[in-house]
Amino acid sequence: MSGERRDWIAAAGAPLRGRLRVPGDKSISHRAVMLGALADGVTRISGFLEGEDTRATARVFEQLGVRIERPAHGECIVHGAGLHGLQGSDCVLDCGNAGTGMRLLAGALAGQSFDSVLAGDASLSKRPMRRVTEPLATMGARIDTGTGGVPPLHIHGGQQLRGIEYALPVASAQVKSALLLAGLYADGDTVLQEPHPTRDYTERMLAAFGWPIEFGPGHVRLQGGHRLRATDIDVPADFSSAAFFLVAASVVPGSELCIEAVGINPRRTGLLQALRLMGADIRAENSRECGGEPVADLVVRHAALHGIEVPETLVPDMIDEFPALFIAAACASGRTVVRGAAELRVKESDRIATMAAGLRALGVGIEETPDGALIEGGGAIGGGVVDSHGDHRIAMSFAVAAQVAVGEVRIGDIANVATSFPGFKELATTAGMTLSAAPL
Ligand code: S3P
Repeated sequence: MSGERRDWIAAAGAPLRGRLRVPGDKSISHRAVMLGALADGVTRISGFLEGEDTRATARVFEQLGVRIERPAHGECIVHGAGLHGLQGSDCVLDCGNAGTGMRLLAGALAGQSFDSVLAGDASLSKRPMRRVTEPLATMGARIDTGTGGVPPLHIHGGQQLRGIEYALPVASAQVKSALLLAGLYADGDTVLQEPHPTRDYTERMLAAFGWPIEFGPGHVRLQGGHRLRATDIDVPADFSSAAFFLVAASVVPGSELCIEAVGINPRRTGLLQALRLMGADIRAENSRECGGEPVADLVVRHAALHGIEVPETLVPDMIDEFPALFIAAACASGRTVVRGAAELRVKESDRIATMAAGLRALGVGIEETPDGALIEGGGAIGGGVVDSHGDHRIAMSFAVAAQVAVGEVRIGDIANVATSFPGFKELATTAGMTLSAAPL
């Protein structure tokens, strides 16, 4: 979605200091718009992520006839159409860069009376969709993919769905959520078992919208045939966006930073545990609840990090944080070993390959494995040119690496940072980082 190619120039900066707040949680923002659109009544969302991914989801529902008011930045008022009130659109529904948007929409749209076509940008157009279309087909959905199981998705409406019992082969909250959204339209129960518990925002939010659902770590049972009742959603700050600052303040000497009101749902905070195992000094203060989610102010101080073997049990709880973890590992003394993370290869880019190429370009020793990497930390990080391959989290991670580099780092293809973290450059420079737009 982000048009022209843009680069950043980043270099060693000042210690990170002060207090800051990162934007709203992407996963929760997507779900809030979706459930609000399918509910009866008016849902008010505050703290909504004004990123391209979540705006794309809101636009899709507008195309499907849902009225969404935007009274202020981060505020959405969704006039729910009800479960059966969406109107079909002749236009392609553009999910932009958002895997979450497309996969969850596939579930929700499989149960409609009309046909839909979901498409995305170049990155999303390469991502695997059979993980949702195959189980949806066993529920009675009819969805055609592009060759090789990638977008666009042509969803044939008018199918009566039925609940299934399904053991997910991969730990994926997107797949789980797609099936639950289809399950709203199904006859009978949808019963899902996960190989490892993943973020449970869809389950929690369905319960908040009054839908009968039973769930616990790794399992969920949902009855078809009810209605969603609008409710207000207060979105906490996104831990995945806070992650870049947790790593930056940990590795830049003299840093002491407070990141306010961050969502610390245990299914999201594996990086916190991994960084603490590496010797990081991060304290959670002022723990409280925001919109039914645990939040805290995270106070992080510079500390000497050492390499670790990242426990495989943490992988699903930090799946979006590996680019940042790789930078922490490059700055830590000794070797860090990542295993059991093959899912990284099918994210917005192949995150193992993209991080390995970028770290090598800066002189860091890294060996790729099929499901992870061995990172040799503690040496100097040099200047150089890295390509983010249009992956927002890779771009922000290398901006962090540059803060301890001995030379200037040029980070290519950064426009997609706006998908999850609009204003990153400005917030990062306010905190002390040196980061600017490269002249065009
Ligand atoms: C998400 C689930 C994860 C995560 C993504 C957001 C969600 O994807 O990587 O950024 O909101 O459900 P997978 O389900 O592919 O693991």
